[in-house]
Amino acid sequence: MTQFTFDAPSVIRTKRDGGVLSDAAIDWVIDGYTHGRVHDAQMSALLMAIFLRGMTGAEITRWTAAMIGSGVRFDFTDLRRDGRPLRLVDKHSTGGVGDKITIPLVPVVMACGAAVPQAAGRGLGHTGGTLDKLEAIPGFTAELSKDRIRQQLQDIGAAVFAAGDLAPADRKIYALRDVTGTTESLPLIASSVMSKKLAEGARALVLDTKVGRGAFLPTEDEARRLARTMVDLGNDYGVPTVALLTDMDRPLGRAVGNAVEVAESLDVLAGGGPDDVVELTLALARAMLEAAGVDGVDPADTLADGRAMDAFRSLVAAQGGDLTRPLPTAAHVETITAPRGGTMGDIDAMAVGLAVWRLGAGRSAPGEQVQFGAGLTMHRRPGEPVAAGEPLFTLATDTPERMAGAIAELDGGWSVVDRAPDVGPLVLDEIR
Ligand code: URA
Repeated sequence: MTQFTFDAPSVIRTKRDGGVLSDAAIDWVIDGYTHGRVHDAQMSALLMAIFLRGMTGAEITRWTAAMIGSGVRFDFTDLRRDGRPLRLVDKHSTGGVGDKITIPLVPVVMACGAAVPQAAGRGLGHTGGTLDKLEAIPGFTAELSKDRIRQQLQDIGAAVFAAGDLAPADRKIYALRDVTGTTESLPLIASSVMSKKLAEGARALVLDTKVGRGAFLPTEDEARRLARTMVDLGNDYGVPTVALLTDMDRPLGRAVGNAVEVAESLDVLAGGGPDDVVELTLALARAMLEAAGVDGVDPADTLADGRAMDAFRSLVAAQGGDLTRPLPTAAHVETITAPRGGTMGDIDAMAVGLAVWRLGAGRSAPGEQVQFGAGLTMHRRPGEPVAAGEPLFTLATDTPERMAGAIAELDGGWSVVDRAPDVGPLVLDEIR
């Protein structure tokens, strides 16, 4: 019998022309790309074809399975605390602007008695990445071995790490999507999120699926389809999965960037911080605790009494970070002031995300070093009173030539108005 083999141009052409990729073709191309037999240029073309043509449900399932199969799958079910198995639960966001929620959320959930093995990501397109933010803490490392992750889960109840040997195909494809305009694709987001999450060893998952101008899939309809696809993938793998649909029309909190988002998260952990960041942190914490089977605890108490802050300190210390050292700041700062008095109108999350990316908080080439101090602070949130001439936005970067482009991105993305804008609910729905 002749062994049928594939070649990248034929696989690309099949998808380019609207065909369906066979299981064998998907396995071949993911394996080939993971091991360097399929080149970046070829995978870029295939990703663009997928972006334009989409994938069937069966293709998404196989693509996700092939990405999981490209690496190892962690299993921490033998870990015990007080004679009982650890309640291993995680959350993942589909990508937002100012979405620092993992930073306060993980310690809240630790403080409530569950354990979080989190494979986190770097910035993607106009959205920030948890790892880029946490690495702004001096000394913090996300490069953890499996043994170290196990030990941390056992000792303190969490580890936030670069995916490493988990779904290495996703690591390569994610970096390529970031610089080839192929991020905003339902099949590519679903498979990217779920390949990491199903490999990392969590026994239950909560997915924060973003809806609105700053989300990769802005319409509610698309976001619902994404959530449904991911929930079904999780449940099919025996990992109970629930998705919250949450607003990403405007940025979360007041700070967008790397170090500035860590600072805002520390405010939340100290019992303060912006209301929307606190609300989403607690909504996701409640969903995670329910999914993990932890009851009788109120996550809000852990923010009020300092237990979440203690948990965060233990997590940062375990990963080499030093919170006594100052967070990085950028060398150049500019402020945008109010042209008139009134009320802060709506703020477009996409405009802010692109501005912050231009300031240097994200990447435009694979492997580029992000600027930890780059970012934007919103002094007035939608609906807050504004006095003529007062600061509305502070932008920070190490490279002053980036400033004009960032300010241009913001242009038209905000306004001072006479009446407070309508702001809908933060949590729109839950999908099981
Ligand atoms: N998070 C991921 O891990 N992948 C995506 O594609 C989007 C958000």
